[in-house]
Amino acid sequence: MDLFEYQARDLFAKHGVPVLDGEVIETPEAARAVAERLGGRAVVKAQVKTGGRGKAGGVKLAADPEDAVAKAGQILGMDIKGHTVHKVMLAATADIAEEYYVSFLLDRSNRTFLAMASVEGGMEIEEVAVNNPSALAKIPVDANEGCTAEKAAEIVAAAKFPVDVADQIAEVLQQLWKVFVAEDALLVEVNPLIKSGDGRIIALDGKVSLDANADFRQPGHEALEDKAAANPLEAAAKAKGLNYVKLDGEVGIIGNGAGLVMSTLDVVAYAGEAHGGVKPANFLDIGGGASAEVMANGLEIILGDPDVRSVFVNVFGGITACDAVANGIVQALELLRSKGEDVTKPLVVRLDGNNAELGRQILTDANHPLVQQVDTMDGAADKAAELAAAK
Ligand SMILES: Nc1ncnc2c1ncn2[C@@H]1O[C@H](COP(=O)(O)OP(=O)(O)OP(=O)(O)O)[C@@H](O)[C@H]1O
Ligand SMILES: [Mg+2]
Repeated sequence: MDLFEYQARDLFAKHGVPVLDGEVIETPEAARAVAERLGGRAVVKAQVKTGGRGKAGGVKLAADPEDAVAKAGQILGMDIKGHTVHKVMLAATADIAEEYYVSFLLDRSNRTFLAMASVEGGMEIEEVAVNNPSALAKIPVDANEGCTAEKAAEIVAAAKFPVDVADQIAEVLQQLWKVFVAEDALLVEVNPLIKSGDGRIIALDGKVSLDANADFRQPGHEALEDKAAANPLEAAAKAKGLNYVKLDGEVGIIGNGAGLVMSTLDVVAYAGEAHGGVKPANFLDIGGGASAEVMANGLEIILGDPDVRSVFVNVFGGITACDAVANGIVQALELLRSKGEDVTKPLVVRLDGNNAELGRQILTDANHPLVQQVDTMDGAADKAAELAAAK
């Protein structure tokens, strides 16, 4: 989960990283009181989860409270790379002498963490990385050792930070590492990390991405979610503990096992080409031990998607045998009917693997008018695509 700048700033402050005073507002008029509190002058900053806000006109200096209202009015509602600005942060103004760049991130390809740092920070850092890569130091950080004082000194030396700020930056690096570890982040980036006119090091802009796999041990992180921006189907699925991702097609997909579901998406997309270009409507992995309740929950989400015109249930029986899954499907349809849900979309079911014969027999015996069985994955995908195209 990516955070807004103001949320990153709050996490920085929580772990001792020096930041500027600031406040988030959602209406232009609210800017007046905040600017007054900050001393009149303020920087008005769009809160959107994308980079390059400054270049897009989303970061503006306001000379006084009146101007802050005007600038907030210009920025609120602005579209930055497809993100509408609903919030702006008013920040105290910094007297910037120099702009640096520092970050910690997960370096998957090298199976380690990585620190990056440059004395050439600021809005052109992407160009620096491409055109002058030697100006961007990259230092691996061992997961067990972390960013110790020695490691911080190594990063500072590699990036060639000036001597007068070396100690302060080494300190900030260790605090940022604390943010990275304590908050289970995948990315902690400060750009710019500034040296002020009076020689202080301050984090002026932050990007933090949190690891959703650690949500179970980060109860505080739920409050950081941007509920308004979440897809309602994905939010409902999350509330039911389902692994669901909304896509933009018409064929609802349910499968057991992420790998099988991924290949089901491919097979349906391919089959859909022969049926007017219908595509998968979602990713949904109901996992190994799919009970009737999980199946019902999954079906409920998928059938509740107005884009869905047919559903493909693709199950390969393993530890959970196909007869259990077949019973799950029958009970799920029963459960939905008893809840008063109007199930009208056709289901194509393919059962294979452990106890497939028995599972198929159970569905045949149930003889549900909306359920058809196809025994092969390709055949079932083709049928589901055909039904989605026909509706
Ligand atoms: N509080 C502040 N006081 C003075 N100048 C600021 C302040 N905040 C930002 N700036 C200036 O505006 C520039 C852009 O700000 P910031 O880095 O927050 O936006 P950005 O566009 O998100 O940058 P990025 O390229 O990292 O996405 C900074 O490099 C800095 O020069
Ligand atoms: Mg920035």
